[in-house]
Amino acid sequence: MVYNKTFLFLLLNISSNFQKVNNMTKMTTQEYIDRESKYGAHNYHPLPVVLERGEGIYVWDTDGKKYFDFLSAYSAVNQGHCHPKIINTLKEQAEKLTLTSRAFYNNVLGEFEEYVTKLFGYDKILPMNTGAEADETALKLCRKWAYEKKGIPENEAKIIVCAENFHGRTISIISMSSDPDARKNFGPYTPGFVTIPYNNIEALAKELEDPNVAGFLVEPIQGEAGVNVPSEGYLKKAAEMCKANNVLFIADEVQTGIARTGKMLACDHEDVHPDILILGKALSGGVYPVSAVLANDDIMLVIKPGEHGSTFGGNPIGAKVAMAALEVVKDEKLAENAERLGKIFRDEFSNIGSEMIAKVRGKGLLNAVIIKPKNGKTAWDVCVAMKEHGVLAKPTHGDIIRFAPPLVITEEELREAMEQIKKAFKEFE
Ligand SMILES: Cc1ncc(COP(=O)(O)O)c(C=O)c1O
Repeated sequence: MVYNKTFLFLLLNISSNFQKVNNMTKMTTQEYIDRESKYGAHNYHPLPVVLERGEGIYVWDTDGKKYFDFLSAYSAVNQGHCHPKIINTLKEQAEKLTLTSRAFYNNVLGEFEEYVTKLFGYDKILPMNTGAEADETALKLCRKWAYEKKGIPENEAKIIVCAENFHGRTISIISMSSDPDARKNFGPYTPGFVTIPYNNIEALAKELEDPNVAGFLVEPIQGEAGVNVPSEGYLKKAAEMCKANNVLFIADEVQTGIARTGKMLACDHEDVHPDILILGKALSGGVYPVSAVLANDDIMLVIKPGEHGSTFGGNPIGAKVAMAALEVVKDEKLAENAERLGKIFRDEFSNIGSEMIAKVRGKGLLNAVIIKPKNGKTAWDVCVAMKEHGVLAKPTHGDIIRFAPPLVITEEELREAMEQIKKAFKEFE
């Protein structure tokens, strides 16, 4: 009898566990979303779609529905989801050596450093992991250079930044943000930043008169602000003015870099070579967090051994993955593709003829559409409608939708996606 009871208990337990596991695979979209809401903190405001697989320009949800990915993880997946060359490199390195920290040398980091510095034309690279970390690193580098090379009195260095910038979410970075959502109740803020309007040469000229200015940090196109493309010549003029005033021109190409705008770097459109270049996101094809700060020796060598670091920065997996990701960009001519298809995208969009489309702007395959709300329907509703038609994109700042497909997209695929986008807009007529 006792034996039977135990046996029955075990059997019930096994069967209920089996059911639990089984139910996991049968979860609905809403159940996945509810679980995230219950156990995860707030940060983004996601569209109600739960993805489980990606390949090239496509992603699939947990019900097997296929979508065009027109966000590319905020321009991190430029090389397409799960690119075989990058994934195979990841697997190979993962089986050999994953992390040494920089307490020791490893046989991959130097190869990566040589590859990237030669590719972008700098003496040195400082590898980190996320975009925000790379931005923080650039700020530290600029300040140290200010005291040790420019001769600015200690703690007096200023860095000019632009209104509506987005450089990440750390305390110092939100200290230079003008977005109330990013700042409110996260103070006290880091001092030493001067904010000027974006795309305004006169404002820059005025601030550059201050001898304590050490750097000018700028996004060549403001991505998060809604793909704000500055006037032609702005970057070139700004870089020249910085040079004339012995101020470092620091370009945050975390979102615009790695072929997104139709050139390897957005600064390349104006032949600008920043004093400090910040890269992230697509540097690793969205496969592994890899970011980098590049500069020449006269700047980079102000940081001495022991003065900066990161346990994961420059790890062998990230280093190998980033080299493979950059090879893909070159081999598959992604910059050229972005340049050509970007024009088609903007032309096609301008011809949709919906009252809700107030403006289309962008460069290469980094584009945005400004939505004029209609009958209470906003950019969010348009994104939900596009999702129903199999295209994923996300609103930014309420009334702007960013369109940034992986750069491996073909013209035929782009036109197919545009047909679905048109159908979504038609629903609001
Ligand atoms: C221009 C720019 N800089 C920095 C960042 C921050 O990158 P991460 O989210 O990897 O910290 C972003 C992210 O969107 C960005 O667009």
